[in-house]
Amino acid sequence: GRTAAVIPAAGRGVRLGPGAPKALRALNGTPMLIHAVRAMAASRAVSLVVVVAPPDGAAEVKALLDTHALPERTDFLVVPGGDSRQESVKYGLDALPPGIDIVLVHDAARPLVPVDTVDAVIEAVRDGAPAVVPALPLADTVKQVEPASEPGMPEPVVATPERARLRAVQTPQGFDRATLVRAHETVTDNVTDDASMVEQLGERVVVVPGHEEAFKVTRPLDLVLAEAVLARRRA
Ligand code: CTP
Ligand code: MG
Repeated sequence: GRTAAVIPAAGRGVRLGPGAPKALRALNGTPMLIHAVRAMAASRAVSLVVVVAPPDGAAEVKALLDTHALPERTDFLVVPGGDSRQESVKYGLDALPPGIDIVLVHDAARPLVPVDTVDAVIEAVRDGAPAVVPALPLADTVKQVEPASEPGMPEPVVATPERARLRAVQTPQGFDRATLVRAHETVTDNVTDDASMVEQLGERVVVVPGHEEAFKVTRPLDLVLAEAVLARRRA
């Protein structure tokens, strides 16, 4: 069957600071979203890219995609997004045509993911996993805290999960289409990734190696890193 990539790109990018919606900000002269679309289209398996645009920016995103060349084999669609990432992904899934049976969900905010990572995710879904996440070990030790007893007081630490068993997960996350659609129809809690919804269904979620260059552009320093990675690629 065919594989599609849904790219949620409807966020404001509050943590990046004032400016255009994050996905439309330029990295070395090209909008972040275009880098992300190209990263998905770089996989020969991906035949359709669905971009979920800022709610009032669908026309602008469509125009951007019309002016930046994609491979001949890749179709694209643009739909408006929602108030949460979860809602935006749902609108992207609703736009998928028949005949797609594997779906990748990829953050526009991870513009530099290498094609080998994309292909490894698709391969693991083809091998039978209903949900696949690329992930890396953590450099930092992670503490679980409780809210401070009163504002201005320090937060108490309540636990330190064993670092060696933790993974930082990235995108694209890959899914059997029917499983992901069912997850989005069933799970209503606020979640920060799609695989956690599939976990809540009790379905098997597996990890494949992620990549350092699949980091999420979240804060201003991440823009510096992203532009340095692009410059190194061109060198
Ligand atoms: N996203 C979306 N719709 C939303 C919120 C987020 O499509 N309502 C997308 C973002 O565009 C991004 C991805 O989800 O590609 C990951 O979200 P995040 O990195 O948190 O981006 P923002 O929500 O835009 O950033 P911030 O949380 O700093 O505002
Ligand atoms: Mg966000």
